Amino acid sequence: MAKDYVVKDIELADYGRKELDIAETEMPGLMALRAEYGESKPLKGARIVGSLHMTIQTAVLIETLVELGADVRWASCNIFSTQDHAAAAIAAGNVPVFAVKGQSLEEHWDYLDRSFQFPEGANMILDDGGDATLYVLLGARAEAGEDLGIPTSEEEEVIHAQIKKRMEQSPGWFTKTRDAIKGVSEETTTGVHRLYDLVKKGQLPFPAINVNDSVTKSKFDNKYGCKESLVDGIRRATDTMMAGKVAVVMGYGDVGKGSAASLRGAGARVKVTEVDPICALQAAMDGFEVVLLEDALETADIFITTTGNKDVIRIEHMRAMKDMAIVGNIGHFDNEIQVAALKNHKWTKIKDQVDMIEMPSGNRIILLSEGRLLNLGNATGHPSFVMSASFTNQVLAQIELWTKGDEYENKVYILPKHLDEKVARLHLDRIGVKLTRLDKEQADYIGVTPEGPFKPEHYRY
Ligand code: NAI
Repeated sequence: MAKDYVVKDIELADYGRKELDIAETEMPGLMALRAEYGESKPLKGARIVGSLHMTIQTAVLIETLVELGADVRWASCNIFSTQDHAAAAIAAGNVPVFAVKGQSLEEHWDYLDRSFQFPEGANMILDDGGDATLYVLLGARAEAGEDLGIPTSEEEEVIHAQIKKRMEQSPGWFTKTRDAIKGVSEETTTGVHRLYDLVKKGQLPFPAINVNDSVTKSKFDNKYGCKESLVDGIRRATDTMMAGKVAVVMGYGDVGKGSAASLRGAGARVKVTEVDPICALQAAMDGFEVVLLEDALETADIFITTTGNKDVIRIEHMRAMKDMAIVGNIGHFDNEIQVAALKNHKWTKIKDQVDMIEMPSGNRIILLSEGRLLNLGNATGHPSFVMSASFTNQVLAQIELWTKGDEYENKVYILPKHLDEKVARLHLDRIGVKLTRLDKEQADYIGVTPEGPFKPEHYRY
């Protein structure tokens, strides 16, 4: 039988398995779900397409989904984020996975397509950034005769070509697949924006769970995760001395807060840019100077985008930076930095995912991961412990949509607070946290029960 996976080197499986063993000890939420649901197998019959960074932590997620009864096929949601030993371990465990660190854009979309090819068809999506959902919905629109328009980027060109290829190979496939999907759980801020946009346009064909906005996801992974993984990425890429350097963090949302803390923790002098007065005020009161990017270009050494927005660092900004400024992005997509506008410049590859680019003035910048999220491109992403919280939410969302999807409308939902608190609770023992218990009178006094939920819906943490 032809092998049903694409990985860099299957011989890396043993190494991957050893790291998986370690990760499991740091992912108590996922392991608790295995203990709770391993026997009842609530995901039996689910055929889940995963489009999410193929890392060691994701491997523990995949094996949890399988242990709960699901059939799973997987692709990475970024061309640079795969850990090849993690992919190899998953492939060796007979889960079809299509992911190689440094894959081309053509391969990337081909791999996503392959991850949909269950013999009986996919019926669930687990998405990170929304590409799996986009692929199916865009293809179905093309099958309905809609003109997808002229591509506005190299990646869009590749997506359109991949859709055309699939339409020729299996007419009607996109529509059939769209109609079979029972629901999608979405991991990140950018993917969640896309889902709400679909609802607004009346184009979401199945229910969705916004995992990102579980408190135990965005207030932990986006923040504390980036706090550890941003500087890790910059160091592995450049080995630059962080202490004393001037760094500019663009955006002070959850990722920006973690990123600014990461750089400050390493001794850098950190400035922040923001468009939202609330986040700008938060940054100022956390002790960061809030500036305009234009005013920091000539003095800063490190520039990091965290906005989920486009064209934040533009070509004119990069031209005004000082020699050897480090430029990187930790937001989901690579359009935060105008990398396409650098194409006609002189590029010198220093090593994988690290390039030196010469500006017309002769000044050079060091660009990390070609503007793709650098904590996964230049390092190994967030540590297992925080990803356990994120992925415990993912598994709960998949169970909910698979077992009760019919009770949901085609809208975007957030998991209820008691499950959010459950995810947190599952992570306390591992780090020795002792939780105070409310007595009945105290609970009554603040209007809760001793078992929780402890906060009203509008509480912001
Ligand atoms: P958020 O919405 O909490 O924060 C983004 C902030 O950027 C907002 O405060 C917004 O006002 C600000 N902003 C928007 N445009 C701006 C501009 N032109 N200049 C300055 N500030 C601007 O979003 P969150 O959760 O922080 O996520 C940010 C991005 O990071 C998203 O693309 C998300 O998907 C991604 N992400 C990446 C992770 C990683 O490991 N690399 C982990 C989690 C999220």
